[in-house]
Amino acid sequence: MTNSRDLVPPLVRSVTHRFESAAELERYNRGELPGLFMYSRYENPTVDAAEKQLAQLQGTEQGCLFASGMAAATTAILANLGQGDEVLAARNIYGGVHKFLAHVAPKWGLSARLVDSSALSDPRSLKPNTRLVYFETPVNPTLRLVDAEPIVRAARAQGALTIVDSTFGPPGVQKLNELGVDLVMHSVTKYLNGHSDVLGGVVLGSQEHIEPIRMLRRVLGNNMDPAPAWELMRGLQTLDVRLARQQATAHALAEKLAKDKRVSAVSHPGLATHPDHTLAKKQMRGFGAMVTFTVPGGLPAASRVFDALQLIARAASLGSVESLCSLPVISSHAALSKEELAAAGVDAGMVRISVGLESEDALWADLDRALAKAAV
Ligand SMILES: Cc1ncc(COP(=O)(O)O)c(C=O)c1O
Repeated sequence: MTNSRDLVPPLVRSVTHRFESAAELERYNRGELPGLFMYSRYENPTVDAAEKQLAQLQGTEQGCLFASGMAAATTAILANLGQGDEVLAARNIYGGVHKFLAHVAPKWGLSARLVDSSALSDPRSLKPNTRLVYFETPVNPTLRLVDAEPIVRAARAQGALTIVDSTFGPPGVQKLNELGVDLVMHSVTKYLNGHSDVLGGVVLGSQEHIEPIRMLRRVLGNNMDPAPAWELMRGLQTLDVRLARQQATAHALAEKLAKDKRVSAVSHPGLATHPDHTLAKKQMRGFGAMVTFTVPGGLPAASRVFDALQLIARAASLGSVESLCSLPVISSHAALSKEELAAAGVDAGMVRISVGLESEDALWADLDRALAKAAV
């Protein structure tokens, strides 16, 4: 279907493909013609090319692309659970997945137990019907890490699969599959596409573990379209250079913020003072490009900083070429009670920055000007 001499994979928009004969169609149905495509909801040459690139980047056998990160996460969970089975998940995961596990999955007889991430590695936390263990690292917005290896060990002993949401740590920052995690999920909306113009998600793992997810995707129809898959491949071409620059700038800004008297706390896994710095050096290849800092004075002070930004965009999401700022207590964590915020380590004065490609000097000038407004 694709010309091997093409430098760039073609964007194939056709939803259906011609067969030469009934015999060829029968051979295709038997799986004997893997290079042929039948119908775009099943598979598409452009989506297929993007999946292969993602699997190569992550170092897994296969990848399965979805219309969003949420579609990727929920389909991966559903593909591994039957009625009466349990997913054991960390409480500090992306809000949408938390909502799905706490409120949606139980309606269908799937049991989801949300626990402190430290409990995931305790073999006593797993029950005989625990089929899946789900966690996220680094965690939003505290940028604390979850130690993957003991979780994998406990899950394997019980015969359960592990799935990690690695959106904050794309390949280049971490490859938790190399530590034994069975399925790695990314919202490709973030770093992998990197330009805030594609919504998508991917699940990566062995052929054995991806195949049931791919089959469920066929019937749910929540696959990625070829046009965003093509755009995603363009984003992937610069992933490494983007991350190198974004991580270096994030580290430099974190160090400046850590010395700044107007800031009461800074979290970035690359700082020696970060509580998980030793784990970060072991588990990650870089430290990521997110920085979260806290200003004294809670939400009013954080809002003044937020409102004064001129270069960094006041916008949700992360991983873009543009730097983005969010206030967790009124965005990602808006639905949490005071007690839940405290348990998650989220302070009302927290300001989260996703560091983009602007110069370090320009970003610091923006933060410095905004921080001057923190105190009334
Ligand atoms: C860590 C994490 N996981 C999953 C998602 C969901 O991804 P999407 O918005 O692409 O559905 C997000 C989105 O913000 C996220 O930050």
